[in-house]
Amino acid sequence: MQRTFAIIKPDAVAANQSGAILAIIQKTGFRVVGMKQKRLSPIEAENFYGVHRERPFFASLVKFMTEGPVVVLALEAEDAIKKWRDTMGATNPANAAEGTIRKMFATSIERNCVHGSDAPETAAVEIPFFFAASELL
Ligand code: RTP
Ligand code: MG
Repeated sequence: MQRTFAIIKPDAVAANQSGAILAIIQKTGFRVVGMKQKRLSPIEAENFYGVHRERPFFASLVKFMTEGPVVVLALEAEDAIKKWRDTMGATNPANAAEGTIRKMFATSIERNCVHGSDAPETAAVEIPFFFAASELL
């Protein structure tokens, strides 16, 4: 069993798509180990996406990620990291495969409705970034 970290981003929460996305998560076979709705502070968003600090889209990404509440999730499944990336679809919804969450709900390469850890080392940092051990059930 493996764990990954997911975010339902502000665009999807504002559009009341959290429930539909959670239904896909559960139907796909993930166990929800941790879940909460919160609003990211600019510092949290900057640190969370720190790897992109030098990219031209960084300021816009931080503004987007702090514009409203998000749902943060810790998910468990066999091969959870790859399984969740496959369920999300490509970063740019224009390139996302049919049936993926980004194909169904994302509106642009930035406003792409979900996040997923990209490697075990990333998941190992991202889960404790948002969850205390006692919140993972
Ligand atoms: P994420 O980290 O959110 O799961 O997305 P990802 O791995 O598919 O894509 P990544 O390259 O890590 O980019 C992080 C987020 O930054 C925004 N972005 N905007 N305007 C742009 O060209 C651009 N490129 C990326 C997206 O919100 C992307 O998910
Ligand atoms: Mg990424």
